[in-house]
Amino acid sequence: MENLKITIGRLTLKNPLIAASGTFGYGEEMARLCDLSGLGAIVTKTITLEPREGNPPPRIVETPAGMLNSIGLENKGLKDFMFNKVKFLEKIDARIIVSIAGGSMAEFQTLAETVSGLRCVAAIELNLSCPNVIHTLQSSRYQLIAQDRKATAAVVRAVRKKTRLTLITKLTPNVTDITDIGKAAEDAGSDALSAINTILGLSIDIRTGKPRLGRIVGGLSGPAIKPVALRCVWQLSRAVKIPIIGSGGIMTGSDALEFIIAGCRAVQIGTAHFIDPEASSKILDEIKTFLRKNRIRDIMSLVGTLAGKGD
Ligand SMILES: Cc1cc2nc3c(=O)[nH]c(=O)nc-3n(C[C@H](O)[C@H](O)[C@H](O)COP(=O)(O)O)c2cc1C
Repeated sequence: MENLKITIGRLTLKNPLIAASGTFGYGEEMARLCDLSGLGAIVTKTITLEPREGNPPPRIVETPAGMLNSIGLENKGLKDFMFNKVKFLEKIDARIIVSIAGGSMAEFQTLAETVSGLRCVAAIELNLSCPNVIHTLQSSRYQLIAQDRKATAAVVRAVRKKTRLTLITKLTPNVTDITDIGKAAEDAGSDALSAINTILGLSIDIRTGKPRLGRIVGGLSGPAIKPVALRCVWQLSRAVKIPIIGSGGIMTGSDALEFIIAGCRAVQIGTAHFIDPEASSKILDEIKTFLRKNRIRDIMSLVGTLAGKGD
């Protein structure tokens, strides 16, 4: 039997597959469509302190080899999470990572402190990289926290003070140098990095001359972004010592293995779940078959084994 177990900070996962935030809800609805037992962990839809309605429709559009979304962090807020979502999460076998986004340092801290008190929560993912909202911690309308090393470090430091749980910082590819931001998060106390969130994009209907999304721009995900994501995680793996969790267009076991070879200790599956809710189980089977065929006993022995050095 091959060993698929991996650790990220204080978190141990039975396998490296994680459901990506915003593509798996809070697990309950997906449990009706697929078997959750194949997943190492689930990242919840990002929660905010207060409920958010999200952006005006349309909020989803298909693109060649991907999709654009401008959901805008629609969620029912922290109280609803505590009263209505936790009950189900307590029952499942996969580890739970709660994704949080705050409008201020105090909000980030309240969210982190509150979810840290829940027995079923194993880790926190800081969503500093959603391209579909105005980040009130930043000055410009489209600037994300994870586009600014100082703001990233400040949030990580503030949250670090409020939780002993494994802290994961989710980065955006919409930057000149992702390693600069990754290093800032590492220095500020993040236990791991998650990369990448979606890439800001635009789709236009030429018949009407209008954008296809209500907010005009949105985040691109799916196979179209895989090479960008792979490049980002590979660069990060050479720049930081903390584990990297990769995401961006993973649809198959071989996609997931590419991320692991590029330097990721775990991977997140997002858009693939919209096409096939069982995607993660299939990806896990494909990884197991690959390991068996190639007589690789431990998935960890593949992490960061990309041949060639680059510049
Ligand atoms: C509809 C949709 C909603 C998303 N919502 C969130 C979210 O709430 N928080 C977050 O951190 N990422 C969110 N993401 C980004 C995904 O978690 C993931 O990082 C990204 O889509 C890249 O992976 P993929 O190509 O496998 O989907 C969302 C993505 C999609 C497609």
